[in-house]
Parts: sequence; structure tokens; C-alpha cells
Amino acid sequence: MKLINLMFLFLSKPCALEAFKGGHDPMFGFIQPNNVLDIFQRWMVQHSVLYADLSTTWRRFQIFKTNVQRAFDLNEKHGGLTTFGLTQFADLTPQEFLKNQLIPGIAKLFNASSQRIFPRSRKSRTELVSEIDWTKKGVVPPVRNQGKVGTCYIFSTLDMISSRWAMKGNPAVNLSVEQVADCLAVAPDLFSDSLACGINGGLPYAVFRYIKKVGGVTTEEMYPYCVGSGTCKPCAPPGYDPEMCERYPLNDCDKADSCPAKLDTSQFVQGLMVNTWTDVMPEEETIAHVLETEGPLTCAVDASDLQLYKSGILVPDRCRPYDLNHACLLVGYGVDRNVSYWKVKNSWGRQFGEDGYYRIARGIGACGIHRYVSTVTLE
Ligand SMILES: *[C@@H]1O[C@H](CO)[C@@H](O)[C@H](O)[C@H]1NC(C)=O
Ligand SMILES: *[C@@H]1O[C@H](CO)[C@@H](O)[C@H](O)[C@H]1NC(C)=O
Ligand SMILES: *[C@@H]1O[C@H](CO)[C@@H](O)[C@H](O)[C@H]1NC(C)=O
Repeated sequence: MKLINLMFLFLSKPCALEAFKGGHDPMFGFIQPNNVLDIFQRWMVQHSVLYADLSTTWRRFQIFKTNVQRAFDLNEKHGGLTTFGLTQFADLTPQEFLKNQLIPGIAKLFNASSQRIFPRSRKSRTELVSEIDWTKKGVVPPVRNQGKVGTCYIFSTLDMISSRWAMKGNPAVNLSVEQVADCLAVAPDLFSDSLACGINGGLPYAVFRYIKKVGGVTTEEMYPYCVGSGTCKPCAPPGYDPEMCERYPLNDCDKADSCPAKLDTSQFVQGLMVNTWTDVMPEEETIAHVLETEGPLTCAVDASDLQLYKSGILVPDRCRPYDLNHACLLVGYGVDRNVSYWKVKNSWGRQFGEDGYYRIARGIGACGIHRYVSTVTLE
């Protein structure tokens, strides 16, 4: 890396630092105009970031600086309940974060799917325990990293299934996200809440239906994840509809990396099969009860406030309950410093948030976390 050159470029433009006030970051210490460039370089090393050229680096540095200030302002505003800082997304504008890391297009589908049914009443509120954390019971698989593709819904759905599988006393499995990403594309069907666009987003119901139809799912070890790290280039799944799903992002795809070449049904996890699935009423007490009695649950959220999240309980800042754009897994709930929270598993690697998880306010419909919760039963 040509750090010397960078120094000259930046030192020759000191006036650009004027709007930047700085503050204290829990990881990097005090960040001020005179050391923010140094912090940027440390951040680049930490996240193995290298830009194509100096002008890109300069542009990213400006965005980084804006985000440093944004994180400090957010920390002040949220009074120590949430800590914001320099995450792996600190060089993106909020618009880029939304476009690159989340699935904004899915919100209108969530809005339109009015046919959802909430079959069983599961209320028995007096029995709610005060705190539950399924990760402490050893049934939740390790946190993984989806990379820069829209596969969050596959991670959350498969993680729910493998948690339920472990809860039934079976040995832990890491299920193959790549299999589903490579093989599943279905046109939207609002009556069944199915839609999947491979690496361009989708809904949990489509994943349940796929597993039932194809007869199972294999393990991460047999069919490893690669599309998110750019180490494979699968062609679009059979049936992919570019009109519904937007243009498939991988142009020069490789047939050897694709579903027909890689899928081996004889490698499916023996005995693992989904039976039924259903939505959970969008009421947080009911959700807590279902979480406690049935296990981890898939959910959707407007994740725009997570860009700079480091730790603590997220209370809504810019996020909105109707702009769902990311899928996650609810794994627990509790109360901390008098604030009720959900504990949520994310798929942005262990370096994100609290060891790959985040906590978000519970009982106020924060960022729409209650709006699209589903559960599954296995055979
Ligand atoms: C979804 O519906 C809500 C409430 O009706 C609305 O405010 C929001 O803009 C809609 N979002 C999309 C993407 O259609
Ligand atoms: C699941 O993945 C984790 C981390 O990648 C690994 O340590 C663990 O051994 C895997 N579990 C199984 C059952 O293969
Ligand atoms: C928590 O809330 C209760 C009741 O509202 C109050 O009495 C108590 O002082 C609060 N505790 C803290 C640590 O804020």
C-alpha cells in the first residue's frame, strides 16, 4: 500500500477537515482532525480494504469522516444505550449501505402480502419468562458472513431450521446457504408469500417450500458458501425472472459453479425435513411467547440504523417499520438497564455488533422487527 503517497495527498488538503469535530471511539480512542487519517488507515488494515486508486481512496475517506462524526452524534443522542462506531460499513454512505448490503426492493412485497394467516392463538402471557437466550443452550449455529449479496433470508431461514433440528436432540449441522442461493428462484405468489431471487433477496416461505419440494438440504461442509465472498460465480438459479428480481448481478457466470452441476441430493442431511410453517402474530408479547416455547424465529427489519451499530440496545433513529429490507433470526429477549430488548442473530460475520448479534428495543415495534416473524416445525 502506498501510504506515503496518501499522506502527501491528504496533507495537501487540510481545509477539507474543517467540518469534522471528532470524539471518542471505544475501539480507536480519540479521533480528531489531526489523527482521523491515521485512524482511516488503521481501519483499512483491520478490514483488509484496498481501493483501486488514490481518488477513490480520497472519496472513501471523506465518507468515512462523515460517518465518524455521525457515529459520535448518534452516541450523544442515544445516551449510552447504544454504541455506534467504525464498523465494516464505515466507508459507505447510508444510500450505498441500503443498496449494497440490504434489500430495499423487498419492502413493497412485504407491504403487499396481505394474505398472511396467523392460525394458532398462542397466548399465555402470564407464563412468559423474563429472559431467554437460545445461544446459551447451544442450539444456534455459528454466525456467518453473507458478504455483499442478498442472501440474508437464506441464512435466517436455515439457521432457524438447524436450531430446531438441534433442539430435537440431533447433532448440530451448518446447513448449506449456497445450495439454496444457487438453486432457488420462484416468481412471487402473494397468496403463498413465496418469492425468491437467489442472491437478490427473497422470503422465508420460498425456502421452506423449496426444501420440501427438492427433498432436503445439505451441509455447509458439503456445499460451501462462496458467492458472498466472490470465490465462485454461479449462474442464475433455474426459473430466475429478471423482471421480478432485477437483473442477475453475475454476468460471466460459470456452469461448474451452478446448481445443476453442484447439487447432490444423496448428500442431504438424513432425516431433516420441514413439515409446516406459519407466521407469528405481529404482537411482541405473542412473539416472545412463541420464541420461548418453539425456539429461534426468522424476522425482517429495516436495518438502516445498523450501519454503524457496535453494541447495546438499538432504539429507532432513521429506520421505519414499513421499510423492511433485511432478514435476521430472533434468538432471545431480556431487559437491560430497564430497557426491554430482542437479541437478534445477524449474518454479517462475528466482527459485526456484539459477536455477530445485535440487540434492539422490544415492545415498541422498533424498525418493524415484529412485522414479519415466521416459525417452522420439522418432521
Ligand atoms: C409500505 O406501507 C407503508 C404504510 O402504508 C408506507 O408508509 C410505506 O411507504 C410502504 N413502503 C413501500 C416500499 O411501499
Ligand atoms: C459449523 O461451523 C463451525 C464454524 O465454521 C465449525 O466450527 C463447526 O465444526 C461446524 N459444525 C459442524 C457440525 O460441522
Ligand atoms: C427501572 O424502572 C423502575 C420502574 O419504572 C424504577 O423504579 C427504577 O428506578 C428503574 N431503574 C433504573 C436503573 O433506571
